[in-house]
Amino acid sequence: MTSQGKKLPDSEEFKSCCSNFYADDVVRRILGDSFHPGGEKLTEDLLNMVNACEADRVLDVAAGQGTSSILAAQKFGCHVTALDLSAENLGRAKRRAGELGVGHLIETRVSDAEHIPFDDASFDIVLCECAFCVFPDKTRAAAEMFRVLKPGGRLALSDMTISTGELPEDLDTLLMRVACIADAVTPKRLMELFEAAGFSSLRLGDASWGLVEMVEGIRGRLLAVELASKIGKLDLGGMDIEEGKRMAVSATEAIGKGVVSYDTLTGVADKGAGS
Ligand SMILES: C[S@@+](CC[C@H](N)C(=O)[O-])C[C@H]1O[C@@H](n2cnc3c(N)ncnc32)[C@H](O)[C@@H]1O
Repeated sequence: MTSQGKKLPDSEEFKSCCSNFYADDVVRRILGDSFHPGGEKLTEDLLNMVNACEADRVLDVAAGQGTSSILAAQKFGCHVTALDLSAENLGRAKRRAGELGVGHLIETRVSDAEHIPFDDASFDIVLCECAFCVFPDKTRAAAEMFRVLKPGGRLALSDMTISTGELPEDLDTLLMRVACIADAVTPKRLMELFEAAGFSSLRLGDASWGLVEMVEGIRGRLLAVELASKIGKLDLGGMDIEEGKRMAVSATEAIGKGVVSYDTLTGVADKGAGS
């Protein structure tokens, strides 16, 4: 239930609703290339924080259309597996990687982050941007990320966080949940979840600058999409632009009041001897 008393879909329904949302043409047009605050600049910062290099095998968990995976391959020379529930977005990732000359460094896998289909200790880095907040079983997702990392492997995560456990009513909706806000946790809880999964040397950083920029970009693109639909150049499908505008206003207010932030979290998979 949301605080407005509305029934939420069960976990599996929610996952499919979320991945379909991010594969929608109009949504992708509104969000731009990168589906997370801070865009490619933040991905590059994050990969620098964990000293990513050519020798690293990276798993990009909930990779969307692969913008971060492609950056890891292009700028750091990493071999990347982009995992997401959306086959459509991963198809785009593969195509763009080929066009940009890094197709040989990128593999894709349609899968659920709560059931990662790889052996233990398969990767050097797990990258996960603006997606942990949408996983219904966060304990399980953190445990899976730990499991697939080699001893001493690094976590490079960025995510939406909230300042208290309770959200104002207008932010506690299904759409806000899909948009990464309503199921975000506090920075303290985020640390606890990864600590409990076995990670050590956990470090939080504030990247809220990316949030302000992203919401401003979305507000501009919402107007462009509205105009394109009014002059018959774009079919909105089921997209409710007015609802989108209301969400953007609520999100801007919540950012201004410090209710919603965007954080980075890095850490090391502490697996005892050898890590
Ligand atoms: C906000 S987007 C972030 C995408 C990408 N990390 C980026 O920053 O551009 C969230 C992504 O999570 C994916 N997703 C949602 N639930 C998932 C799950 N349980 N397992 C894997 N991917 C999931 C969605 O399909 C969507 O691509």
